[in-house]
Amino acid sequence: MRVGIVGKRGGAFVSGLRSVPGVDIVAVCDLDLATRTAFAERHGIESQTDDFRRLLDADIDAIAVATPMQFHAEQSIAALEAGKHVVSEVTAAVSLDECQRVVAAARRSSATYMMAENYCFSRSNAIVGEMARRGVFGDLYYAEGAYIHDCHHVQYDAAGNPTWRTIWQVGSRGCTYGTHSLGPVLTWIDDRVASVTCHGSGVHSEQRHIQDDVTVMLCQLARGGLADIRLDMQSRRPHNMTHYALQGTRGAYLSGRHPGESGLVWIDGRSPSRETWEPLDAYRDEFTPLEWREYGAQAAATGHGGGDFFAARAFALSVTTGTTPPIGIDRAMDFTLPGVLSAQSIASGGVPVAVPDSREW
Ligand SMILES: NC(=O)c1ccc[n+]([C@@H]2O[C@H](COP(=O)([O-])OP(=O)(O)OC[C@H]3O[C@@H](n4cnc5c(N)ncnc54)[C@H](O)[C@@H]3O)[C@@H](O)[C@H]2O)c1
Repeated sequence: MRVGIVGKRGGAFVSGLRSVPGVDIVAVCDLDLATRTAFAERHGIESQTDDFRRLLDADIDAIAVATPMQFHAEQSIAALEAGKHVVSEVTAAVSLDECQRVVAAARRSSATYMMAENYCFSRSNAIVGEMARRGVFGDLYYAEGAYIHDCHHVQYDAAGNPTWRTIWQVGSRGCTYGTHSLGPVLTWIDDRVASVTCHGSGVHSEQRHIQDDVTVMLCQLARGGLADIRLDMQSRRPHNMTHYALQGTRGAYLSGRHPGESGLVWIDGRSPSRETWEPLDAYRDEFTPLEWREYGAQAAATGHGGGDFFAARAFALSVTTGTTPPIGIDRAMDFTLPGVLSAQSIASGGVPVAVPDSREW
């Protein structure tokens, strides 16, 4: 499989893509000359361009779409229409209309589409996912996920000019960037969101942004469960990549609340005491997925706790083996649509808004 990458963030996918035999990364596209030259040199890529159409016309089988969010749908659709497999950065699209058009393009195309929601693949989330899949927590009915990351350093460039993030991430109300939280949660519970209710804290820390400092999206799941998703890209505090909780009929998980803090687990009938949590690590040997056992050391050296590596690897494996990707077009919509519809809810004072199921489109 010959892969072209558009957008420098695609560098995060390089080692995961190359971990699959038969995958070559042959071209990079970025508007900025210095960026794409450095990218090509760093990753040993022979061909570079600033023109996405030229990348599409090149002798490639697949495209990694890693440009700013507002370009994901348009570039994914063009690639799918050209018969190229697509792995897209999050979110899959930024509006309902775009979501519908990406789904239509994916349905028409014989090529594979996958959204690289890397947080689904981090070590702790993968272990919790394996425990959930094997029923350790019982029936799952509640989860929390939060993306709390002060992103001022990327919302403004070195000269202080606003970047695309001030428009597409914090330039409107609603859960504009919820997939890092919702993706793992929906993967664990194995459900989709039927309706969203969204509220905000108001703007306190950064008056230039329209987005509330804290946005909370309550997701009613199709089988009756509940997910509480929080987005905060501007409050002043250190970043923590794991901010989750999960509750089932037989047990619960609480992620660490700061970097380096262990996640906690309690399992009815298995944990030694009714009142004492156990470290997630106590379950690591039994529930670490095979992929993490085999490639964990290589993955951990890459971005987002190995998530970038495994997301890219999963895409390459699905294409090269002709299997279904773990986050195909409908799962990408399950992760993306609630955030898109949350804008309607928050704009109308928090009324519940139905989230369509792309499988019915
Ligand atoms: N999954 C994650 O953990 C994660 C982390 C960071 C960023 N992202 C996502 O990755 C994407 C890119 O983010 P970033 O931080 O690299 O942004 P960035 O602004 O730092 O870089 C964007 C790059 O894309 C190039 N570019 C912009 N428009 C282009 C176009 N039309 N064609 C070709 N190149 C173009 C720019 O020249 C620039 O080099 C965003 O969607 C962001 O949300 C995801």
